[in-house]
Amino acid sequence: MSAPEKVEFYRHQLGTEESDSWRTVIDTLFLTLGPQVAAFERELGAFLVRGREGGGENATAPRVVGTSSCSMGLLIALRALDVGPGDEVITTPMTFASTTNAILQLGAKPVLVDVEAGTGLIDPAAVAAAVGPRTKGVMPVHLYGQLADMRALRKIADEKALFLVEDSAHGIEMERDGVRPGELGDAAVFSFYATKNLTSGDGGAVATRHAHVEERLRRLRNHGVSKAAADRHGKAYQHWDLVELGYKANLTDLDAALLRPQLLKVEDKRARRQAIVERYEARLREAVPASLLAQLAPGRVPFLVERRGTSSHHLFTIQPPAAIRDELLAHLGAHGIGTAVNYRAIHLLTYLQELLKLPRGSYPLAEEIGDRTISLPMYPNLTESEQDRVISVVAEGLRTLG
Ligand SMILES: Cc1ncc(COP(=O)(O)O)c(C=O)c1O
Repeated sequence: MSAPEKVEFYRHQLGTEESDSWRTVIDTLFLTLGPQVAAFERELGAFLVRGREGGGENATAPRVVGTSSCSMGLLIALRALDVGPGDEVITTPMTFASTTNAILQLGAKPVLVDVEAGTGLIDPAAVAAAVGPRTKGVMPVHLYGQLADMRALRKIADEKALFLVEDSAHGIEMERDGVRPGELGDAAVFSFYATKNLTSGDGGAVATRHAHVEERLRRLRNHGVSKAAADRHGKAYQHWDLVELGYKANLTDLDAALLRPQLLKVEDKRARRQAIVERYEARLREAVPASLLAQLAPGRVPFLVERRGTSSHHLFTIQPPAAIRDELLAHLGAHGIGTAVNYRAIHLLTYLQELLKLPRGSYPLAEEIGDRTISLPMYPNLTESEQDRVISVVAEGLRTLG
């Protein structure tokens, strides 16, 4: 028997424009923290307000600081907002480890609150209820590419004098209720990891509207020193100083050169992702047997995420009943379909379970999503025939396992 044709979980689409851009940097002096990084920071800021130039609540571009990853961006954003030992930061259990790691690495405590059943996004009512005397801020996660309810969260943050740091690893393209990432948050942090909509293999950026936060981010990403080499270049020698304890967390010019051409294509690719989602949703709806629908708790979203606003469609997930999820994952793998799980509820992972001691049952909605979710192949260059194969293998799995 020949091996089944593989449909990868993710395939990047870096091509000639990206490699040409990357190659030009090799002939220049600065490979890091140089002009490509500065240009990318300006261009990402402009992207985040594109179409708003004529007005709106926030027509001016946020200040953007390139980082080595979203994880380091989250860490320095929290540092720039003075998070430290004794502080509490409210976030969601439906996220990647980086969100809670950033809080813990600063000696602060992550306080988890449950999510909305239909979207998996942090529930603003649960956030409001969890605010206590030590709460310093809230970290919503724009899960799968849908914006959390930033208007509701901003209102709570303003009432209680809290900061908002958006974990926007899943995209730069989203909008909800007229709000984009980095618009209402004190900082929004993006990822350019290998599987993200925009990628340089690894990389990230923080967008902020506060000049003092930008200044600290620039320092914290570069050891805590007062001036980067490129800032000093071409001038008489200037001493640099170490003014606080920082990190090595900058984007490089090679990364930025890969990212700049992608910024020009991101909207077209988002449209293509949306077309793939619509096709998946229409065909998968027909594939779900009634016997499986009957196994799901009443009122829960059967298989697909509820849509809110414009999504970046970073991930496409289905939610079969928990009892068959792992078997369905195995079935998909055996038929050459790449998958991922985004995410098992984070408080149930070993390290956090031992540290936070939040037993199963603490966040039932996040746990249910975590027990059910499967991410299917989703990228602009997924072909229709590949998608058809994914759909038919999922449908066959649901029929046989349900
Ligand atoms: C929600 C979320 N936050 C943070 C990260 C971390 O991103 P990075 O790999 O750029 O550090 C990821 C990456 O997968 C993520 O999905």
